[in-house]
Amino acid sequence: MGFKVVMQFLCCWYTAHVAKAIQYYTAAVYEHHAILNPNSTHLTSREFALEFMSKNLDIYEQQVIAAAERGVEIIVFPEDGIHGFNYSRASIYPYLDYLPPPDLLPWNPCHEPDRFQDTEVLKRLSCMAAKSGLFVVVNLGTKRPCESLDPKCPPDGRYHFNTDVVFSDKGALVASYFKLNLYFEFGFDTPPDVQYAVFDTHFGRFGLFTCFDILFHEPVVNLIEKYQVKHLLYPTAWMNQLPLLSSIQIQRAFATSFNVNILAANIHHKTLGMTGSGIFSPSNSSYHYDMDTEQGHLIVAKVPVNPSEEMCPGHDEKVSSKYSDFMNSAKSCDQMDKTEHFMESQGKHQEASFHGRMMYDNFTFIPLKDNEGEVHVCAGTLCCYLSYQKHKLADELYALGVFDGLHTVHGTYSLQICALVKCGGLRTETCGQEVTDANSTMSFRLWGRFTTQYIFPMIVTSQVTLQLPDHWGWRDQNCYMEKTRLELGLVTAALYGRYYERDRILH
Ligand SMILES: *[C@@H]1O[C@H](CO)[C@@H](O)[C@H](O)[C@H]1NC(C)=O
Ligand SMILES: *[C@@H]1O[C@H](CO)[C@@H](O)[C@H](O)[C@H]1NC(C)=O
Ligand SMILES: *[C@@H]1O[C@H](CO)[C@@H](O)[C@H](O)[C@H]1NC(C)=O
Ligand SMILES: *[C@@H]1O[C@H](CO)[C@@H](O)[C@H](O)[C@H]1NC(C)=O
Ligand SMILES: *[C@@H]1O[C@H](CO)[C@@H](O)[C@H](O)[C@H]1NC(C)=O
Repeated sequence: MGFKVVMQFLCCWYTAHVAKAIQYYTAAVYEHHAILNPNSTHLTSREFALEFMSKNLDIYEQQVIAAAERGVEIIVFPEDGIHGFNYSRASIYPYLDYLPPPDLLPWNPCHEPDRFQDTEVLKRLSCMAAKSGLFVVVNLGTKRPCESLDPKCPPDGRYHFNTDVVFSDKGALVASYFKLNLYFEFGFDTPPDVQYAVFDTHFGRFGLFTCFDILFHEPVVNLIEKYQVKHLLYPTAWMNQLPLLSSIQIQRAFATSFNVNILAANIHHKTLGMTGSGIFSPSNSSYHYDMDTEQGHLIVAKVPVNPSEEMCPGHDEKVSSKYSDFMNSAKSCDQMDKTEHFMESQGKHQEASFHGRMMYDNFTFIPLKDNEGEVHVCAGTLCCYLSYQKHKLADELYALGVFDGLHTVHGTYSLQICALVKCGGLRTETCGQEVTDANSTMSFRLWGRFTTQYIFPMIVTSQVTLQLPDHWGWRDQNCYMEKTRLELGLVTAALYGRYYERDRILH
C-alpha cells in the first residue's frame, strides 16, 4: 500500500493543549478518483450526461455519509470531479446545471426542487448536505443566459462557468464562485467580473477559489486581505510538476505564507500526474499524496478556528511577514551592507554559475560542491544566498538557482525565485529536472533580497513529503528561511515569489 497520510506538527502542541483552549472545527477533503468521460468531445443528451455524472455523485454521497459519521462539519470535493475534463464548448453543454443569480436566492434545492429547471446535480448535492447535516463544497459546470447588451456575453447567448458551490448543513445554497483563472478550459468562459465568494459559519469565515487561481492576485489576495477570510476552500485538478509546483507543495506554502487555513481537494489520477490533497493550517497539516494506487482518499482533520492562534510560541516575534516592517526600517541599509560583507568575507572561490531550464524558465544556477559553505547567485534584480551544511552525504548534486522574470509557458505570470534543488544527475545540465527522491540531508539558511512581498516558502523532502521551515520571514530587506535537522533527503527548498504587480507591466 503506497499511500501515506502524514501528520506534521511543530512545537505547537504545547500552545494548543496547555496554554489556552483553542477552538477547532472538523473538516474533510476528498481526493476523488474521478470516473472520466472517454467521449468528452462527443455531443450527447442531457439524459446521458446526468446518467454519467451520477456515477461520480454516488461516490460523493458515500463520502459525505462517511465524513458525517466522523463528525465532519465541512467537506470539500475536487475540481472537475463530477463531469471530468477535456470538453469543448458544445460538448460540455448537457453537463451544465442552471445556477440562479444571487437576486433569486435564498434557495434550498432539496426543499424546493421544482423552482428552477436543469438543476438535477445541485438538487442531489443539496440533499446530501441536508441529510448528513454538514457543509458540502463541490465544483461543477453551470450555465447562465446573458443578454446581447452585455458586451462580454458569448455569441451563443449564455455563459458557461467552471463553478464552486457551497451547501449549508441544511442544504441551502450559500455561496458560489466562478473560476477566474481558467487553465486552457475551452468549454468554459471567464466570468465578466471577479467573484469574491465569501460566507460565514459559526466556525469562521470562508472563501472560495479554484486550482490555477492559487498563483494569481485575483481573487485570492483580496479574499484574504480585504474580505478577511481565514479559511480557504480549494477544489483543484492539479497536475504535479516538481521541483517547484507539486500540488501539496504550493498548498502547504500558501497556508504558511498567508497565515490561513486551506482545505485543498485534488483529483486522483496517477496516470495524469494528479494527486496531492490536504488540510493545512499555517503550522500543521494532514495531507495525502499517492502515486501508487488509483484509489480515492478521505482526509479528516481538526482545524483551528483562528489560524494564528496555533502559531508556535516565539514564532510571531521572530517572523514578520509584512513587507512594510522592513520598508520602514531605518537600519535596513546597514544590514544590507552586512549581508554583502558576510558573503565577501567568506572569501571562498565560488564555482562558475551556469544556466539551466527549470519549470520552463531560464534559471541561473551555482552548484554546491562542498559539504558545507556559502554560495550566492544573482539574476535580474534578485540575489539569492545559501549557507548550508550537509549531514548525510550521498552521491547527489545540488544547485542554488535564481529566476527573476516572466514565466510564459502554460500561463503568464511574474516570478522571483530562490531555489535549492537536487539535480537529476551528477552533471550540471541535469539541474532543474524533476526528481522525487533524495538521500542527502542538510541544515541550511536560504535568503534573497526580493522586491515582491508575496513569497511562498516551500520544502519538499524525499518521496514528495513536506517540511515546514524552523523559521522564515523578513529580516531587513531579505526574505529568509531556515531549516535544521532534516531527517529525509532534500528535494527542493525554495522561496517562491509571485510578483503580481509586475504581471501587467511585463505582459
Ligand atoms: C464512447 O463512444 C463510442 C462511440 O460512439 C461508444 O461506442 C462508447 O460506448 C462510448 N463510451 C461511453 C462510456 O459512453
Ligand atoms: C484530453 O485530450 C487530449 C487531446 O485532446 C488527450 O491527449 C488526453 O489524453 C485527454 N485526456 C483525458 C483525461 O481524456
Ligand atoms: C494538527 O495536528 C493534530 C495533532 O497531530 C491533528 O490531530 C490535527 O488533525 C492536525 N490538523 C491539521 C489541519 O492537520
Ligand atoms: C538564459 O539566460 C542567459 C543570460 O541572460 C542567456 O545568455 C542564455 O542564452 C539563456 N538561455 C536560454 C536557453 O535561453
Ligand atoms: C538512497 O540510498 C538508498 C540506499 O543506499 C538507495 O537504494 C537509493 O537508490 C538512494 N536514493 C537515491 C535517490 O539516490
